[in-house]
Amino acid sequence: MKILQISDTHLVAPGEEVYGLDPMARLTSCFDDINEQHPDAEFVVFTGDLAHRGGERAYHLLAELLGRLKVPAYLLIGNHDDRGRFQAAFSGAPRDPNGFVQFAIGTPAGRCIGLDTNEPNVHYGRLCRQRLDWLDAQLRDAADEPVYLFMHHPPFEVGLKEMDTIALKDKGAFADIVAARNNVRHIFVGHLHRSVSGSWHNIPFSNLPGTNHQVALDFVTEDGVPGSKEPPAYAVVFLEPASTLVHLRNFTDRTATFML
Ligand SMILES: [Fe+2]
Repeated sequence: MKILQISDTHLVAPGEEVYGLDPMARLTSCFDDINEQHPDAEFVVFTGDLAHRGGERAYHLLAELLGRLKVPAYLLIGNHDDRGRFQAAFSGAPRDPNGFVQFAIGTPAGRCIGLDTNEPNVHYGRLCRQRLDWLDAQLRDAADEPVYLFMHHPPFEVGLKEMDTIALKDKGAFADIVAARNNVRHIFVGHLHRSVSGSWHNIPFSNLPGTNHQVALDFVTEDGVPGSKEPPAYAVVFLEPASTLVHLRNFTDRTATFML
């Protein structure tokens, strides 16, 4: 089953730039590429930071742009988002019984679960007792079915110093729940604005560049987050019984393909 992941679109009002780049132009280009190359994907999951400042106009812009995307979208929020404004703009978006932006999608490949790690007014992520209990119930219900988790904040450190200070706070409680159920096959995260992959407690994970700006590969700087303008990407993901494949597509690359 083919699905897509997009992360950290950081939209603002039309015409505004973020770090000298135009998030609307970038996302438009991303959607054009998907419509051309992967209109057959089952759905796309956005792993948060939809809006740079959580602004109402940014969410309305996203809704408008999504109207042109040929692939159905599931939206998650990140630290730059505002849950209330997001839910006002996307009143039909899935939410859990406690009002968090969390969902579980049943698919032939397994259960895709989206988590809401947003904590208002701070950049680190939280999964409070209510959100953890919801996750635990979902994992218990999934039983032997494969589970794929999608969440903005990584529940682990990656060596990018300042980013590690604003990762998920509730790492231990999250790890305990995931370990107890033993059915999570892969964790798709956002927040890091670059390609990072590996495993955590024997569970593979992957991340991808944002569609606008990136975080530099800098393991030294401790004070602030060094940025970069490395190329953006979206991920083309194949969920199969015996494998999970994650390919990155740099949608700004316009060089022609050729036979090797
Ligand atoms: Fe971000």
